[in-house]
Amino acid sequence: MFQINENYQKLPGSYLFSTIGKKVAAFQEANPDKDIIRLGIGDVTQPIAPAIIEALHKAVDEMGNAATFRGYAPDLGYEFLRSAIAKNDYQARGCDIAADEIFVSDGAKSDSANIQEIFAADSKIAVCDPVYPVYVDSNVMAGRTGTYDAEKGVWSNVIYMPCTAENNFIPEFPKETPDLIYLCLPNNPTGTTLTKEQLQQWVDYANKNGAVIIYDAAYEAYISEADVPHTIYECEGAKTCAIELRSFSKNAGFTGVRLGCTVVPKELKCGDVSLHGMWARRHGTKFNGAPYIVQRAGEAVYSEAGKAQLKEQVAYYMNNAKVIKEGLKEAGYTVFGGVNAPYIWLKTPDQMTSWEFFDYLLENANVVGTPGSGFGPSGEGYFRLTAFGNYENTVKALERIKAL
Ligand code: MLT
Repeated sequence: MFQINENYQKLPGSYLFSTIGKKVAAFQEANPDKDIIRLGIGDVTQPIAPAIIEALHKAVDEMGNAATFRGYAPDLGYEFLRSAIAKNDYQARGCDIAADEIFVSDGAKSDSANIQEIFAADSKIAVCDPVYPVYVDSNVMAGRTGTYDAEKGVWSNVIYMPCTAENNFIPEFPKETPDLIYLCLPNNPTGTTLTKEQLQQWVDYANKNGAVIIYDAAYEAYISEADVPHTIYECEGAKTCAIELRSFSKNAGFTGVRLGCTVVPKELKCGDVSLHGMWARRHGTKFNGAPYIVQRAGEAVYSEAGKAQLKEQVAYYMNNAKVIKEGLKEAGYTVFGGVNAPYIWLKTPDQMTSWEFFDYLLENANVVGTPGSGFGPSGEGYFRLTAFGNYENTVKALERIKAL
């Protein structure tokens, strides 16, 4: 008789955004006349920029012509895209990352879930709390997290680094030394970030303690402050301790198009073994490359026209962030984030739990957000709103919240 991977049985409930989706669908079914505004999942609403659409059309036409048709993409990514990423995201910032240290993928979600595979089964992970749920859930599936304490919402074998208003959302070095440290900066869900100096301390800590930092930079396009690093490789020594995950979802609206990449520097080694070689082996075996047309779309992100159009798109969402942040403040809420990230993190009013506030907001303002406790126990008493809605709906949502 076959056996299943029992680790899956340990996962509590369904994936956070699936649970929210089901709750909202049930509410809509019971209240078909209600106009629900969705500021829950960080899904973009603005159309793909014209320069990218043009590149997509061109690539589609190439696929219809025998002379320019492409079959399997190189499993590590096309050179034209890897070079554009290396040049624009790294070399232009003074970071010595080469095109062949970049692995193109179908998005940062899958990379952030898959990267744990190349580490030992008994690796100890450390996560910020609250945290993007994929980091912990993927380690649960791999059997690395121990047992779940449903009351406290924690796993016995995970190191949690609370990030709350009390410590200005700055994770402290854990007492127990981790093997893998997940950092997402600018942060999802809190919308807060670290300065370059603060991140440098984490790089030094990882190098000193023989840990690897899995650095999720999905929201870097939203950074507005000068002392906030756009990549961990701006820190000295990061190439010997950090893997960086990048996404095209948030900076270029590719949530439905799907494209991302992971940087594994060649200097990152465990003894003599290069993690770059391991990830290349894994990628080559389990992945057949992101589609050619999508990689051409990714290349257009770095064209002059693409850059200008995306700058406007980011500004559009950041204007929403301002509307949310200021509107909430006017309504008396305590708010964080929204300056270097498209997420606004607020304290729930009147001691409501995160889920109580979720229901309250859905029922009374018909606005969907994300309960902070869904991201970890230290998220309890907080709530996340996304700036990725359209402007009109964002304004309307805030009017409704202010009227409560
Ligand atoms: C979020 O809402 O946290 C993100 O959209 C989820 C994701 O990027 O997978």
